[in-house]
Amino acid sequence: MKSIAVVTGASSGVGREFVSQLCDHKGGPLDEIWIIARSKDTLEEIAASSPNVAVRPIPLDLMDDASFATLEQMLEDERPCVQWLVNSAGFGVFGSYGDVGKDANANMIRLNCLALVQMTSVCLPHMRPGSCIVNLASIAGVVPQPYLATYSASKAFVLELSRMLNHELRGAGIHVIAVCPKFMRTKFLDKPGDGDAATAMTRIGFERVDRVVRLALRLAVLGYPMSISSPTMQLAALAAKLLPRECIFFVEDLLFGRLGKKA
Ligand SMILES: NC(=O)c1ccc[n+]([C@@H]2O[C@H](COP(=O)([O-])OP(=O)(O)OC[C@H]3O[C@@H](n4cnc5c(N)ncnc54)[C@H](OP(=O)(O)O)[C@@H]3O)[C@@H](O)[C@H]2O)c1
Repeated sequence: MKSIAVVTGASSGVGREFVSQLCDHKGGPLDEIWIIARSKDTLEEIAASSPNVAVRPIPLDLMDDASFATLEQMLEDERPCVQWLVNSAGFGVFGSYGDVGKDANANMIRLNCLALVQMTSVCLPHMRPGSCIVNLASIAGVVPQPYLATYSASKAFVLELSRMLNHELRGAGIHVIAVCPKFMRTKFLDKPGDGDAATAMTRIGFERVDRVVRLALRLAVLGYPMSISSPTMQLAALAAKLLPRECIFFVEDLLFGRLGKKA
């Protein structure tokens, strides 16, 4: 039986780095990597230039239900073992809830939450003991972020779902890890919505994509349920666990220059 990885959001940023490190066997031996995003040309370029492992471009829009039927059929036809599922496709829009607007608020839930759930449902029947699911959450899912509210809530969903699935699937030998980075320099910030809000919030600093991915793969193999790679964000996560929400929001308003701001 062929052993594969399925990576969403593979055309850019974190997903693309996962493809690169999986090609370097950082996740163990693989026969093929199936890469998913909308940008067909970019996926084909990545497939053509990837060494060591065969990479199959699968251009799909994960906000379209028909995409999951397509993938389900491909898996049904070929019956591979899905050794890795990396759910990296996602986006975030900064700004007050009203300014972000109804379409962007709904689409963040469609891609960050619903598509991740649908990908998991489609791939799980093809997983075996030792398979791993890597879900891109965010530190915004651990430390709640007003002015990035729907995104932050979507990532809290990803984090909690990952923890519960990791527990549920233990008996099946399938491991689920939630990855919680702070900001990284990817296309994520290309269309931020409220640019001022984004600039203020990125004062917490940036992490390197390659390090986030390397640690995520290592911790996934070791069976950890969660990866927070930034030491300062580990402290922030502890504070978020101990302090009331209002206290967290006050510190964030102070840090990001929002004291007295009205939505
Ligand atoms: N960068 C950060 O600061 C940061 C921090 C914490 C967490 N994260 C999380 O990390 C993950 C990866 O983000 P990134 O930084 O790599 O951002 P990115 O560079 O913008 O990559 C996003 C990926 O998602 C794909 N995508 C977007 N809409 C899609 C759709 N409808 N259907 C299928 N694929 C779609 C994009 O490809 P196409 O456009 O080709 O479809 C792209 O491959 C996200 O879940 C994000 O929330 C990012």
